[in-house]
Amino acid sequence: MGLGTWITFNVGDDDELRDECAAVMDAFFRAGGGMIDSSPMYGSSQPVIGYGLRKLGQPKSLFSADKVWISSGSRGPSQIEESRSLWGVPRFDLLQVHNLLSWEEHLQTLSAMKAAGQLRYVGITTSEGRRHDLLETIMASRPLDFVQLTYNIVDREVEDRILPLAADRGIGVIVNRPFQQGVLLRRLAGQPLPRLGRGHRRLQLGAGRPEIHHLPSRRHGGHTGDQPGRACAGEHGRDERDRCPTPR
Ligand SMILES: NC(=O)c1ccc[n+]([C@@H]2O[C@H](COP(=O)([O-])OP(=O)(O)OC[C@H]3O[C@@H](n4cnc5c(N)ncnc54)[C@H](OP(=O)(O)O)[C@@H]3O)[C@@H](O)[C@H]2O)c1
Repeated sequence: MGLGTWITFNVGDDDELRDECAAVMDAFFRAGGGMIDSSPMYGSSQPVIGYGLRKLGQPKSLFSADKVWISSGSRGPSQIEESRSLWGVPRFDLLQVHNLLSWEEHLQTLSAMKAAGQLRYVGITTSEGRRHDLLETIMASRPLDFVQLTYNIVDREVEDRILPLAADRGIGVIVNRPFQQGVLLRRLAGQPLPRLGRGHRRLQLGAGRPEIHHLPSRRHGGHTGDQPGRACAGEHGRDERDRCPTPR
């Protein structure tokens, strides 16, 4: 179980909200959590993580997972260095090419960093089923440690080819959007919990995929910029910036 930071950690400079994020991190580590995932795409999330890590005394169980997200391959190293400095870690455990942007150039950078001992693991990401063909091609042909993708009870396309390929190639899988960004949970709000266990065998699961209606987000609002590394362009791609939340 990891801690994602898209939207939720984009709280800007507000001291009270930064402290709330640090409290979430504290609860996460106390519960045995380790991996925190972020990206230069996630607005102020990286400095907010850095603030929390400093406040908590740099927890030893941290597994730091960040991304490179910039179209210029030659500017990848400086973006990575800025991210590392914002987190305040000596090196990242995992760096991923975010949404496969300029993946060939960035994979070269990440592989060189790994070979030089500046990085432990190399990965690539996608979400919501985008570019699975390309994802598969890269997984089959490049040395990767991790792949990050969307997988949840209704988004199960990866079960057909990508998860078996990951198993074959020994690539670790990180799942994003496990609750479809909360849609799956909001749909259940107000519903009684099923009674499970002996004597309640009539509960039937798996009779076809449930139909999920996309509910309006509670967090639509203004966005915070328009440059990679500064923006909150959102996980839906650059064309959907109006989905970016107002920092809170
Ligand atoms: N391409 C990529 O690399 C990529 C793409 C997508 C995501 N990611 C990573 O994966 C992380 C997770 O993605 P996601 O935020 O879409 O994941 P998610 O877990 O599907 O959705 C998170 C939302 O679910 C709701 N939620 C979670 N636990 C809940 C609970 N116990 N009770 C009620 N509601 C609950 C919250 O919604 P509310 O806040 O509205 O209450 C929360 O913000 C991101 O933060 C990011 O780090 C990466």
